[in-house]
Amino acid sequence: MNNRNIVLEAARLSKSFPSKAGTGMLEVLNKVDLQVQDSEITAVIGSSGSGKSTLLHILGGLDHPDSGEVYWNEIPIFKWKQDKLAEERNRQVGFVFQFHHLLPEFTALENVYMPGLIAGLPVKEAEHRAASLLDRLGMSERTEHRPSQLSGGEQQRVAIARALMNNPSIILADEPTGNLDEKNTDIILNQLIELRETEQVAMVLITHEKDIATRCDTVYELKQGKLHLYQEAH
Ligand SMILES: Nc1ncnc2c1ncn2[C@@H]1O[C@H](COP(=O)(O)OP(=O)(O)OP(=O)(O)O)[C@@H](O)[C@H]1O
Ligand SMILES: [Mg+2]
Repeated sequence: MNNRNIVLEAARLSKSFPSKAGTGMLEVLNKVDLQVQDSEITAVIGSSGSGKSTLLHILGGLDHPDSGEVYWNEIPIFKWKQDKLAEERNRQVGFVFQFHHLLPEFTALENVYMPGLIAGLPVKEAEHRAASLLDRLGMSERTEHRPSQLSGGEQQRVAIARALMNNPSIILADEPTGNLDEKNTDIILNQLIELRETEQVAMVLITHEKDIATRCDTVYELKQGKLHLYQEAH
């Protein structure tokens, strides 16, 4: 993997929140470093409350660290103004959450092509790419359904297609299978693993299931504000 590009990098990220008792600060991230190469799937495991979601939000520029920097394709993202950061995020990063956050009043196809329209893609082109992504995820029969008419696994596939819409170089997924049964977890996981090659996308995948983590390339455990290597790239 030595000649691959580093598409996502975190350098000395620190983040604290006021502690629940209100008496001091809770240090969630303590000078965390992370590098992810293109087409690499990095899993982050850790107990509830260890800071996994906080880390993912900062990697995606949804939240700011107290100190440290995040780089997307070697560019420091917290140097950008808020609107530039939002625009770059829409193009470079796709998010998949445990609960899909699809827009209920729109069809699967419309949910998928929305980020394309926001990025300025003509409607026809956006529709075409959205349909082809849904097809690749085995959802070609479901493009006109609304989220409420889809199963949990199908909704999550729509969310993955939406995350891929603008050809991002990074997918950030927070417990993407946390809400699914074993069979659907397997389907989604296989699709994510396949997509990182076909779409050349790097992923950071948060999971509490060690079985899932061991199917990823590199696994870290987040513990007491630090990332500990749990499984090396193979
Ligand atoms: N906005 C906030 N204000 C105060 N405390 C926060 C905030 N966001 C997170 N925390 C605290 O920071 C810690 C880490 O939270 P985080 O959501 O990152 O954990 P997590 O590892 O994702 O947990 P889970 O596995 O349950 O999703 C928790 O103790 C949480 O209560
Ligand atoms: Mg979380």
